[in-house]
Amino acid sequence: MRLGVCWYPEQWPEEWWADDVRRMAEMGLTRVRIGEFAWSRIEPDPCRFDWGWLDRAIDLLHGAGLGVILGTPTATPPKWLVDRMPDMLAIDRAGRPRRFGSRRHYDFSHTGYRAEAARITRALAERYGRHPGVVAWQTDNEYGCHFTTLSQSAAAAAAFRIWLVRRHGNIDALNRAWGTVFWSQEYRSFDEIDPPTLTVTEPNPAHVLDWRRFASDEVVAFNRVQTDILRAASPGRDLMHNFMGFFTEFDHHEVARDLDVAGWDSYPLGFLDQFWFSAEEKLRFARQGGPDIAAFHHDLYRGCGRGRWWVVEQQPGPVNWASWNPAPLPGMVRLWTLEAMAHGAELVSYFRWRQAPFAQEQLHAGLLRPDREDDQGAHEARQAAADIAAIGAAGPPPKSVALILSYESLWVTEIQPQGRDFNGLELAYEMYAALRRHGLDVDILPPDAPLDGYRMAVVPCLPIMPEALRGALARLDGPVLIGPRTGSRTADFRIPDALPPDGQLPLKVVRVESLRPGLELAGEGTTVRRWFETLETALPAEESLTDGRPLVVRAGAARYLAGWPDRALLDRLVERLAGEAGLDPIPLPDGLRLRRAGDLRFAFNYAPEPLRIDGLLADAEVLVGGPDLPPAGVAVWR
Ligand code: GAL
Repeated sequence: MRLGVCWYPEQWPEEWWADDVRRMAEMGLTRVRIGEFAWSRIEPDPCRFDWGWLDRAIDLLHGAGLGVILGTPTATPPKWLVDRMPDMLAIDRAGRPRRFGSRRHYDFSHTGYRAEAARITRALAERYGRHPGVVAWQTDNEYGCHFTTLSQSAAAAAAFRIWLVRRHGNIDALNRAWGTVFWSQEYRSFDEIDPPTLTVTEPNPAHVLDWRRFASDEVVAFNRVQTDILRAASPGRDLMHNFMGFFTEFDHHEVARDLDVAGWDSYPLGFLDQFWFSAEEKLRFARQGGPDIAAFHHDLYRGCGRGRWWVVEQQPGPVNWASWNPAPLPGMVRLWTLEAMAHGAELVSYFRWRQAPFAQEQLHAGLLRPDREDDQGAHEARQAAADIAAIGAAGPPPKSVALILSYESLWVTEIQPQGRDFNGLELAYEMYAALRRHGLDVDILPPDAPLDGYRMAVVPCLPIMPEALRGALARLDGPVLIGPRTGSRTADFRIPDALPPDGQLPLKVVRVESLRPGLELAGEGTTVRRWFETLETALPAEESLTDGRPLVVRAGAARYLAGWPDRALLDRLVERLAGEAGLDPIPLPDGLRLRRAGDLRFAFNYAPEPLRIDGLLADAEVLVGGPDLPPAGVAVWR
């Protein structure tokens, strides 16, 4: 695994560059990402290019043996371009333009902007596509960031109508698919259809689902314009995009099909602060990040990248954008780096080289402080480089448990949650975390992935079940856990005629209910909160409510889970199913996580207190650490 950094030569005096680059190499870094926000310096006026500075920066990096990952600058179109084409701005839900002055101020559907994005990409690709120092390209930056996937623009509405014609063929088919007879929503032609926003009450969910699919396809198409140009003009270079954490606005599997490598930006402390974690977890792990946050995304993006994935931005210290931004515990930057290695990353690249004393991110740490001295992150990057050298190459990730995640299915529960706290992504995360609490290795896969070789599968919540997955699950030689709401909708957002889970197992979900906080159903050794389904089935129950209603039923090696599980129930199910699969689940102490890579074993201590792992190290050849793991401690052995 390589180490790298994100560097912005355009933001610093050129007299500093040589020293920066020398120190990067000395630190053990071999990759540097540049350029992704530099459009106004590359093309200061329309069609007047200033390549000099970028030529010198790339040559300098190349001369020092640092491979360049060059970003296309399409996330930050310059002011002159916006002024020439003001309707390229995205339109928010209230119908207002999202204006110039930060970033991502563009509309994916605007054909004029798409042409401009192609033009600047081609200019960069023609100039640097065959430069020996350029080893990879990043398209744009964090598609969808700041909620920019959906736009209510005229361009998007027009493109949506064309998309609908392609999907439905004729207007009668669309009316049937959406059930528009309900509330007199019927359309006479595709021209009458608008984006589903600013309706008086909830818009038709089938309309919204098609709108979400369309918006996702627009991201795919926008990205493909760039990958087509880069593939032709820059042969042999990896094409990559940096995806985000806990983000579902577009189908990442689909975008990644056009890439060689799936990248992602890892900010464990910011994600802990901003997402669904309890107040208690937010305090206990405030300086480490929840023990499964980084790993969940490593395993997700390994699946997106068909095995090839990078951490493109690694948090190096406090960030600026969460509600609260504490400093990581000393050692965490190193731990996060080695954890990516354990999950098979090819690269961990820190964001950013030096903290900027100006503009929006001046409170975001870098490896270096604004005064050019090393910050804590620099020391830990050096330590990680030494550890990686001591460990050597990590072997291939094991095939053990497959967890299926579908963006289309996540949109279904986002569109119609039915209970305010029903979040399909959170449910997937909870099941993932339960597997990890038992030391298991998980691959997060798209619903069309083959499952051959896996010992067990988990389908947390997949309202729309693709046919291919039904077959793959039936063929799997091992236990399968199927979560609530799976098979509960057709592709047109209807309840299936056979009722959920639509023939997947011999049972029918005859009623669903959501439960406000405090309204709970007692089970044997479990409490059901948020969601419960009433089943009609002859299958035997393995877990029940105290009133006898089934909560988990069994059909062969498969289980159907009829409610939102608490951690006690998930732990029991993981122990039972993984035990049947012969995976040897071991309940781990709170905060300890394990991962296998080939014949290597990694242990990470996310707890704020020390842990002892001597039991794991019997007869081991220890490469890093030892039986006493301090907070943020790492051990590696074979
Ligand atoms: C990412 C983004 C970077 C920077 C970073 C700050 O979302 O790609 O440009 O803003 O966050 O943590």
